[in-house]
Amino acid sequence: MPRIGPRAKNSPRRAARVYKTAMSAAAAGTVRLGDTDVHRMGFGARWVTHQEPSAGRALLRRAVEVGIDLIDTADVYDGSEELIADTLHPYPAGLVIATKGGQTSVDGQPTPDCRPEYLKEACERSLRALRVDTIDVYQLHNPDPNVPVEESVGGMAELVKEGKTRFIGYSGDSKAARYAVECGRFDALQTSVNIVDQECIELTLPLAKEKGMGVIAKRPIANAVWRHPSRPGNDYHVEYWNRLQKLGYDFAKGENSEKAGVDGPAAIAMRFTAMQPGVSVLIVGTTKPDRWKENAELIRAGPLPKELEASIRARWKEVAESDWIGRT
Ligand SMILES: NC(=O)c1ccc[n+]([C@@H]2O[C@H](COP(=O)([O-])OP(=O)(O)OC[C@H]3O[C@@H](n4cnc5c(N)ncnc54)[C@H](OP(=O)(O)O)[C@@H]3O)[C@@H](O)[C@H]2O)c1
Repeated sequence: MPRIGPRAKNSPRRAARVYKTAMSAAAAGTVRLGDTDVHRMGFGARWVTHQEPSAGRALLRRAVEVGIDLIDTADVYDGSEELIADTLHPYPAGLVIATKGGQTSVDGQPTPDCRPEYLKEACERSLRALRVDTIDVYQLHNPDPNVPVEESVGGMAELVKEGKTRFIGYSGDSKAARYAVECGRFDALQTSVNIVDQECIELTLPLAKEKGMGVIAKRPIANAVWRHPSRPGNDYHVEYWNRLQKLGYDFAKGENSEKAGVDGPAAIAMRFTAMQPGVSVLIVGTTKPDRWKENAELIRAGPLPKELEASIRARWKEVAESDWIGRT
């Protein structure tokens, strides 16, 4: 079984300070990622540079202070790797950094490039950006489903042999992710799983669990799309918003959509994600430093009552359309 844990320690004094304030405040308990303990709540750093650098830095610092011990980023997240290094290096002991490679930009459009030689170059760039000798988890980022994953996985395995990464992961969805799980070569799977994105719950998660892979849940709070009373302006949110309209969950409608606490939609969404097979860590995206603590407390309420989870699953099965596949 893969062991995804902290890299070589540095800055023990800072680490001690950080961990003194850590878990008691925020952590929502520890879980297994592979065969290592991490906390339920991770940091999805996709949008961390879509705000003033000082705000991004404050978000990162706060996350680590309250005990977040896994940060997920990617080389194509607009300088996120650099911001993480500028803010947190030397990294506190116990912090796991997962990054991704395999996407490039062609005419401004994200385009997969998963050739082993490209992955090697991309990994070297990420090592420099993050200022580490070894990445904790290096993930293949939304590879082109038409390119056989074996070609890329060979290149990824070389990176492990060369000590550039400790573990390799597959970040993607739907049938391509199923194939990546079946191939048995990846230590971790990062995939979309939430109340409006449930394809993986039967397609990939049980098998990933059986194979002992660490599962990193992306978009774990369904982008909180219930917050939009009408069609969102941001295209990234539209597909989920449309799905939610059709699913029509009571807990995310009308007055309920504004409810806070463990019975509100944010908590129900995260508790649903956290209880799916094999899910280790939820990498929530946020712009608000206080969310880490708030969200960890919501998750700490534990799995949803069985009937509520079953009703969310049943409603999905009744309503989901054939093209409601896992969103990348
Ligand atoms: N591999 C890939 O291709 C891929 C694709 C998508 C995402 N990801 C990873 O997954 C991470 C998370 O994805 P995401 O940010 O798109 O989706 P998400 O975590 O499901 O949603 C983030 C949104 O939820 C809101 N939110 C968080 N906590 C909340 C709460 N308690 N109540 C109400 N709203 C709340 C945030 O707003 P506030 O700012 O108000 O908190 C933010 O707008 C990314 O950062 C990235 O690391 C990877």
